[in-house]
Amino acid sequence: MKAIVVSGATKGIGRAIAERFASEGYHLGVCARNADDLAEMKEQVSAAHKVRVETVVTDMSKKSEVLDFGKAMEERFESIDVLVNNAGFYLPGMLSDEADGVLEQQINTNLYSAYHLTRCLIGKMKARREGHVFNICSTASVVPYTNGGSYCISKFAMLGFSKVLREEMKEYNVRVTSLLPGATYTNSWAGADIPEARFMKARDVANVVYNSYVLSQSTVIEEVIMRPMLGDLG
Ligand SMILES: NC(=O)c1ccc[n+]([C@@H]2O[C@H](COP(=O)([O-])OP(=O)(O)OC[C@H]3O[C@@H](n4cnc5c(N)ncnc54)[C@H](OP(=O)(O)O)[C@@H]3O)[C@@H](O)[C@H]2O)c1
Repeated sequence: MKAIVVSGATKGIGRAIAERFASEGYHLGVCARNADDLAEMKEQVSAAHKVRVETVVTDMSKKSEVLDFGKAMEERFESIDVLVNNAGFYLPGMLSDEADGVLEQQINTNLYSAYHLTRCLIGKMKARREGHVFNICSTASVVPYTNGGSYCISKFAMLGFSKVLREEMKEYNVRVTSLLPGATYTNSWAGADIPEARFMKARDVANVVYNSYVLSQSTVIEEVIMRPMLGDLG
């Protein structure tokens, strides 16, 4: 049976992608920082879909923990078919006056996590000449927001990482897709005074990932931009 690894998968977009693939019978390898959320996810998803759910408590902002997560995934699954670099977070602010360290925090979680985890898992995909890496970027990867500060920098960089990986992986038959969602209703928006209907749904993002994956091997969706029907917020 096939397996998918998703970073930051207990909530939001990561959870929706993991559950979408589980509903198709894929085994899951997932991480997050909160152990209770991982235990809840394991119980709920394995009962609902009869798939294996392998969990590792991981802080994706820390290189050593990312490498431990990657190693655990390689040990627990014979092969990994899909990798989704999803873990990320948003700190609002402006470059001119945001707190010191905000850029480093977001680069660690939003970019370096994907770089290190991909380097752990891509070798076997290359050797098998099969696999698909999805990188969860953002519309902030292409449109700078006034209050997006360092988040935008991290997401521009994530798209750059994804494009370079796509070029490198062509000859190995490993597909790479950059997904650029706009505002999606998840915990990231908790407390925002905006009607839920104004956002995209995480399950729509998950459906785009799954539908991109099931195309024939000779086709790759390189980049997808998704926005709420009424456009960007703000
Ligand atoms: N929601 C949007 O509007 C939107 C739009 C464009 C792009 N995105 C991108 O989509 C991705 C997911 O966003 P989301 O809105 O779905 O987030 P979310 O609802 O806040 O969920 C984030 C998930 O990632 C985990 N996580 C966060 N930081 C982590 C870390 N350092 N190490 C390991 N796991 C971590 C969280 O669990 P723990 O807290 O337990 O670690 C949780 O499972 C991010 O890369 C985000 O930038 C979101």
